[in-house]
Amino acid sequence: MSKTVDFYYFSPTGGTKKVGMHLAEAVSESVIIHNLAEKAKFAANPEGDLSLIAVPVFGGRIPAFAAEKLKSVNGIGKKAVTIVVYGNRAYEDALLELNNMAKESGFEIVASGAFIAQHSMCPEIAAGRPDPVDFDELEAFGKRISEKLIARLENEFSVPGNYPYKADFTVAATPVSTDSCNLCGECVSACPTGAITLYEGSIKTDIAKCALCMACVYACPVEARTLPRQMYDNVRQMLSKYKDIRRPNETYI
Ligand SMILES: Cc1cc2nc3c(=O)[nH]c(=O)nc-3n(C[C@H](O)[C@H](O)[C@H](O)COP(=O)(O)O)c2cc1C
Repeated sequence: MSKTVDFYYFSPTGGTKKVGMHLAEAVSESVIIHNLAEKAKFAANPEGDLSLIAVPVFGGRIPAFAAEKLKSVNGIGKKAVTIVVYGNRAYEDALLELNNMAKESGFEIVASGAFIAQHSMCPEIAAGRPDPVDFDELEAFGKRISEKLIARLENEFSVPGNYPYKADFTVAATPVSTDSCNLCGECVSACPTGAITLYEGSIKTDIAKCALCMACVYACPVEARTLPRQMYDNVRQMLSKYKDIRRPNETYI
């Protein structure tokens, strides 16, 4: 078990953090948390020998916002475990993209994984995940990582994905604030990209800045922030075939 792990994560609606934190605690005695979405600057130099980097999958890629933030992390001379967390459809090129980025930052990648969490746009997909079975698998993965680090084994694995990657994820429409919005401003504070402003008594969302990450929808205390109806219906329809299947978590070590 490592003494300290630096846990770098982006988790607009909490699923990635839940998965990553469980793994971080399984591989180390103490966890230093670095939230990539924090407005104040996170530590760019990991303190411990091992870092865990966890991001969600958006359209088979890693969110552009997280990719941009990760560029400033200095991994030279450090080891990393990388994980992507996705909503039961597919992770496509996201893990490969994350690993390429981490390597460019200097990290040596010792293990990687793709784990499932509830779909943040359509919570009935992979509802309740990560669940106790997932947590057991995360603990077992953590144990294997610790054993590998002690045995100083070579990193001989590769992860799925193609390069050039899938086309960049584009935002077709942003979440909207409905009539029940009381202008409390929680969505403004929750937005990691600064896309939401309170202007002249109404909430404005800049589509050019919005990552469609759903942080604002989850942060709204009165459920006044939602996806536009048409978009929600389309996504729900597209994802309906993943409702009754249980995708397995995948690990590479
Ligand atoms: C804009 C957007 C795009 C997504 N794209 C995918 C995808 O390509 N494949 C998938 O299985 N899940 C996808 N998801 C689901 C998320 O990857 C999943 O819910 C993840 O757990 C969200 O992380 P969070 O809870 O830390 O915010 C997407 C979610 C959003 C908001």
